[in-house]
Amino acid sequence: QTIHWIHDVIPNQLVLQKFERSKTWSYLTSVHFSKDVVLKAYKLGKALQRKNNDELRKIHEEKWLKLWKKGRIEMKGVSDNATRLTKAITSSLYNLLSSLPDFSNENNLFESQWKQKDLMESYLFTGLSPSGLSWGDRKDHKNMQAYRGHLFWDQETWMYPPLLMLHQSSAQLMLQARLRTMYTAGENAKIEGFVGMKYPWESALTGIEVSPDRECGIREIHINGDISLAVLQYLRVTDHNLTCQGNVPKLIIGIADYWLSRSVWNNSCLRFEISCVMPPDEYSRCVNNSAYTNVVARISLKLAFEVAECLKLPNSTVYENTFKRMYVPFDGELNYHPEYDGYVLGKIVKQADVVLLGFPLMYNMLPDVRRRDLEIYENVTSVKGPAMSDAMFTVGWLEVHEPDRARRSFEKMFDHVTGDFQVWTEVKGGHGAPNFITGMGGYLQSIIFGYFGIRIYRDKLLINPELPTDISSMALYGLDYKNCSLDIFVGDRNEMVIKWSGDVGCSRLLIVSPTERLRLSGSRKMTISKSSLYIRVIHERGTNDACFP
Ligand SMILES: *[C@@H]1O[C@H](CO)[C@@H](O)[C@H](O)[C@H]1NC(C)=O
Ligand SMILES: *[C@@H]1O[C@H](CO)[C@@H](O)[C@H](O)[C@H]1NC(C)=O
Ligand SMILES: *[C@@H]1O[C@H](CO)[C@@H](O)[C@H](O)[C@H]1NC(C)=O
Ligand SMILES: *[C@@H]1O[C@H](CO)[C@@H](O)[C@H](O)[C@H]1NC(C)=O
Ligand SMILES: *[C@@H]1O[C@H](CO)[C@@H](O)[C@H](O)[C@H]1NC(C)=O
Repeated sequence: QTIHWIHDVIPNQLVLQKFERSKTWSYLTSVHFSKDVVLKAYKLGKALQRKNNDELRKIHEEKWLKLWKKGRIEMKGVSDNATRLTKAITSSLYNLLSSLPDFSNENNLFESQWKQKDLMESYLFTGLSPSGLSWGDRKDHKNMQAYRGHLFWDQETWMYPPLLMLHQSSAQLMLQARLRTMYTAGENAKIEGFVGMKYPWESALTGIEVSPDRECGIREIHINGDISLAVLQYLRVTDHNLTCQGNVPKLIIGIADYWLSRSVWNNSCLRFEISCVMPPDEYSRCVNNSAYTNVVARISLKLAFEVAECLKLPNSTVYENTFKRMYVPFDGELNYHPEYDGYVLGKIVKQADVVLLGFPLMYNMLPDVRRRDLEIYENVTSVKGPAMSDAMFTVGWLEVHEPDRARRSFEKMFDHVTGDFQVWTEVKGGHGAPNFITGMGGYLQSIIFGYFGIRIYRDKLLINPELPTDISSMALYGLDYKNCSLDIFVGDRNEMVIKWSGDVGCSRLLIVSPTERLRLSGSRKMTISKSSLYIRVIHERGTNDACFP
C-alpha cells in the first residue's frame, strides 16, 4: 500500500523571546493514498492557515464543537472527583473520535450490494487499532506494543459500544471496516477448511489473517461472534432496514455458516460443542467449550435465524437448531460458569472473560449466578492484564446492586491513566501499549452501561442510573436511539430529566417507568422517576416485528 505524506519541518526546539509570554506555532501534515489528494490538501491547508488569522484552525474548532454537541458526558459535584471523571471521559472520547476519519461523503457500504471488487478497492477506513493511530515508541516496535496498527476484537467489543450510543455514524464506520473485508473473510474460512466467513483475529488492509502468533489466528475465533453482536446492537438501536441484497444480512449469515461448520455435534450429550479455541483469557491456549466463545457463537446463530426468518430464507431452521443446542458449560453445584471444560477453580485469568456473559452478551442467567461469576473471577483476574477488565466488573457490580464493589473496580481503572493529557496505557503503571484506546472504550462503557445503566434490548432501551461516589449530577448529551437524539440528566433526587430535540424520530418513542407512560412529543422535556426506565418504539400498524432482531 502506497502512502503519500507531506509535512512541515518541525524544529527540535521552540524558543520564546525574552519578553514573550506566549506564542503559537502551527505545523501542517497531509497524508493520503493518493499523491494528488495529498498535494491539494496541503496547499489548501497552507492557504487557509494564512487566511484571516488562521482560518484552518477555526474550521477545525468548529468541526470539533459540532462533534461535542452531538454526544458527550459531564459529571458535576463539589469534590475534585467530578473534574477527574469528566476529564477522563472527555479525553477518552477525544482519543477515540480523533482516530476516526470523516468519511461521511464516501459511498455507503451498508446500503450497497455485495460486490467483491467494490469492497476490495474502496480505500475506506480499515478499523480502529488498540493504540489508535499511534505505533508507540520505535524502541517498542519489536515488542509490538502498539500492535502494529492491526484491528482486533478491541474495536467491536470495547471501542464501538460507547460510540454506538453517542456518535452513531462513527460506529457505522467501524462496521463498514468489517464489511469491506467480507470477501476475504470467506477466503479465510476456506483456507482453514470451513465454510462461511471467518474474520481474522488480527486484520489489516486486506482482511487476511495477520496475527504473528499463529495459534491466536486459528483459535481466537470469538472475534466472529463479537462482530455479529456489534451488528445486532446496531440493528437494535438504529432504524436500519434489512434487505436480502444488503451486505449486512450477508455478513450475519456468513459468520453463522462459519459457526455451523466449526461446531461439532456430540451425539452422547446431544449438544453442539466447539473444541480447541483460545478464549478472551489468552492464558488458556486451547480449550474446549469456552463459555464466552460458545455464547457469542450462539448469539451469532440466533441472529442469523432471525434474519433468515425475516428475509424468508428457506434454511432458517438450521440456525435455530444449532443455537438452541449450543452447549454452555455450567457448574450446578458451585452455581457458576466454568471458563471452559475442565477449568480448575482458582486458575489465574488474563482478563474479563466469563464476566462478559452478563454484559455485554446479556446471556440469560439468574442474578445469583451473575453474582457468583463476578465473585469467583474478580479474585483470579490478573492485575497485570489489560485495562478493560475493571470496567466490566464495575458494570457487573452495579447490575447486582453492589455500588461499593463497583467503585473499587472503577477506581482501579485510573491506574491506567497517565500524564496531563490523560493518555491510557494497556497495563497499570504506564506499561504495555500506549494511547490504549481499547481501555478508554472500556472506561466509557463503565459510565454509559455502568453508572447510566443503559442496556440495549430487542425492542427497548433500559436506563437505570446510579450516581458515582461524590457526584451530585451527571448528564449524557446526545444519546442516539432510533433516529432520535436524547439528553439525559441524573441528579441526586429520585428523578431524572429527559430532553429531546423534536426530531421526527422522537415522536415514535414512548418512555415507560414503573409509574408512568409518556410519549415524546410537544414539550421536548420531561421529568420522570429515576428507577428502571424504558424507552420503547411505538410500532406503526403493519410493521413486521420479526424484522427487528
Ligand atoms: C424502513 O422501512 C420502513 C417501512 O417500509 C420505512 O418507513 C422507513 O423509512 C425505512 N427506514 C430506512 C432507514 O430506510
Ligand atoms: C477437547 O476435545 C478434543 C476433541 O474433541 C478431545 O480429544 C479432548 O480430549 C478434549 N479435551 C478436554 C480437556 O476435554
Ligand atoms: C442459507 O441460505 C442462505 C441464502 O441462500 C445462504 O447464503 C446460506 O449459505 C445458507 N446456509 C446454509 C447453512 O445452508
Ligand atoms: C475472594 O477473595 C477474598 C479475599 O481473599 C475472599 O474473602 C473471598 O472468599 C474470595 N471469594 C471467592 C469466591 O473465592
Ligand atoms: C429519521 O430522521 C430523518 C431526518 O430527521 C428523517 O428524514 C427520516 O424520515 C427519519 N426516519 C424515520 C424512520 O423516522
